[in-house]
Amino acid sequence: MVDTSDEWIRQRTGISERRIAEDDVATSDLCIHAARWAIKNAHIDPLDIEMILVATVTPDRFFPSTACYVQKGIGAKNAAAMDISAACAGFLYGLDLADGLIRSGRYNTILVVGGEIFNKIVDWNDRNTCVLFGDGAGAAVVQATDESKGILASYIGSDGDYADVDLLDQKLDKIQMNGREVFKLGVRLMPEAAQRVLRQANVSVEDIDLLIPHQANLRIIEAVGDRLGMPREKVYINVDKYGNTSAATVIIALDEAIREGRAKPGDLLLLVTFGAGLTWGSTLLRL
Ligand code: ACO
Repeated sequence: MVDTSDEWIRQRTGISERRIAEDDVATSDLCIHAARWAIKNAHIDPLDIEMILVATVTPDRFFPSTACYVQKGIGAKNAAAMDISAACAGFLYGLDLADGLIRSGRYNTILVVGGEIFNKIVDWNDRNTCVLFGDGAGAAVVQATDESKGILASYIGSDGDYADVDLLDQKLDKIQMNGREVFKLGVRLMPEAAQRVLRQANVSVEDIDLLIPHQANLRIIEAVGDRLGMPREKVYINVDKYGNTSAATVIIALDEAIREGRAKPGDLLLLVTFGAGLTWGSTLLRL
């Protein structure tokens, strides 16, 4: 469709394959699928869920929220449901909110989902963007636990001065991005965000067992790991298989890392992300 090559895409992005949803699949379908897995793995009843937060910038509709469709799909009748719009940083925004709501004592069980169908907003004639994105979803059940486990520190931020570097063109209904600028911002902002939670928790980089960065581009991931001083083997990478799934990358990567045994009970994990907005966030958690 565009003037590009497999070699260019592999070299400049690290992506070699990705998943594209069929036309009749909605973002909520992917989110429901992921949510069911999370509920099963957490051994909870969907009726225990008190809040559903779905991070997405590709909702099924402007309203109702994708979270309400997820609620219906999983039968979580007792939950409040809403979407979070923070682009690729959305899942960590969701974790930060869930952490705060649970610490407030008002909630015990919150489902956080990150899901996107980016292919619907990709301009398939624009080689600068159409090679980058994939579709996917992931979900996590967040519950109160003892202080030594779970989310130890969390930080989110944004800067609307950069709103124009990466946006949805409303006339075209397609993504437009200044790739080079976004690249530079990501390489600067993700290490800064990561350092924030390390300082909050008084933890040093050497203590981290696995860094799980937003999966947008292999070169960005490697630069972030290098700037933080993380050895390459402690940096989780799966952008090669899925491309950039925006709000879903970090939770898909976390799930895979656990399944592969790269992240084990007791491990200290550092999650970090950035996205359109600009938005960014980081989470330090003990599995
Ligand atoms: N195939 C072949 N050539 C291409 C392609 C392609 N798919 N895309 C761009 N090029 C060309 C450009 O036109 C340019 O040609 P020119 O020099 O003749 O103008 C050349 O390759 C180099 O372009 P750059 O933009 O400098 O390439 P760069 O090395 O920066 O890689 C990329 C581009 C992959 C987009 C990179 O900048 C990147 O990954 N940026 C970050 C994107 C991102 O992370 N977005 C996440 C946010 S999305 C969200 O939050 C919703």
